[in-house]
Amino acid sequence: MKVCTTKAETRATLAALRKAGDTIGLVPTMGFLHDGHLALVKAATAECDRVAVSIFVNPTQFGPKEDLASYPRDTDRDLEMLRAAGVDVVFMPSPAEMYHADKQTIVDATALSKILIGKIRPGHFRGVATVVTKLLNITQPDRAFFGKKDYQQLRVIKTMVRDLDMPVRIIGVPTVREADGLAMSSRNVRLTPEDRKAAPVLNKALVMADKLVAEGITAKQLEREVRDRIDAEPRANVQSVDVRDAETVASVGGRITAPVVVLLAVRFGDVLLIDQRVVSPQKGQR
Ligand code: PAJ
Repeated sequence: MKVCTTKAETRATLAALRKAGDTIGLVPTMGFLHDGHLALVKAATAECDRVAVSIFVNPTQFGPKEDLASYPRDTDRDLEMLRAAGVDVVFMPSPAEMYHADKQTIVDATALSKILIGKIRPGHFRGVATVVTKLLNITQPDRAFFGKKDYQQLRVIKTMVRDLDMPVRIIGVPTVREADGLAMSSRNVRLTPEDRKAAPVLNKALVMADKLVAEGITAKQLEREVRDRIDAEPRANVQSVDVRDAETVASVGGRITAPVVVLLAVRFGDVLLIDQRVVSPQKGQR
């Protein structure tokens, strides 16, 4: 496994592989890896000849009051996991290598970036879209892999690739969960033991949503039921519950007759957890 810290070395390494006729899969990460990240690596390994993983805690997607400084890091462990997973190339730049001191250009999704999580984290998706554009330009993969857990992020990236004609296929990978249903996240280690115990309420509310939609319900009612279920857990501080069209994340009104995504953003202490589930009405009710 080749570990590159500069853009130039990464480009040269991947150019040589491409020249040999290999297809390349990219898995962008912020490190502190877990089985969710490894599921993306596995999907990339299955679909591409060579797999590149980037590890970069991207400062531009964190707000001034967010957890950039306390974001967990363990590069040695990450590299060990990636070596064991059979990854070919790791790109691990410093912020100074990644961003020019006089940077002026950004990439943003004009509407999609401002709704949902974009309201709670202003500027977040602009940082994500810009860094992912840079990572795609540096590595020039055939495919890039992203988790469905970060549903809006996946929508932003797919939309950006479509709108800007980027020559890459974006692949969404299902959410990997702990045994108790909590979606794996690098941030889970920052939960207190009490909050960690309470956090599976997110998945419980999503499983409940699945049942309610199968029985027949309106989007508004569903939002209320899910919010009430999470509010019943005193440690949970609900930031948002949204029921949106599963494809476009546009608002839906009235009775649910097509697949919707239930999007959750919930704070435990100062840790913001997000989760999602796509739920569909039973065939007879569509
Ligand atoms: P990070 O949070 O490290 O996540 C990297 C990738 O792993 C993302 O595509 C995310 O959706 C996916 N992922 C995280 N938890 C997962 C889980 N439990 N199951 C499946 N996939 C999971 O997301 C980012 O980093 C950054 O915003 C990034 C895209 C790297 C840009 O900086």
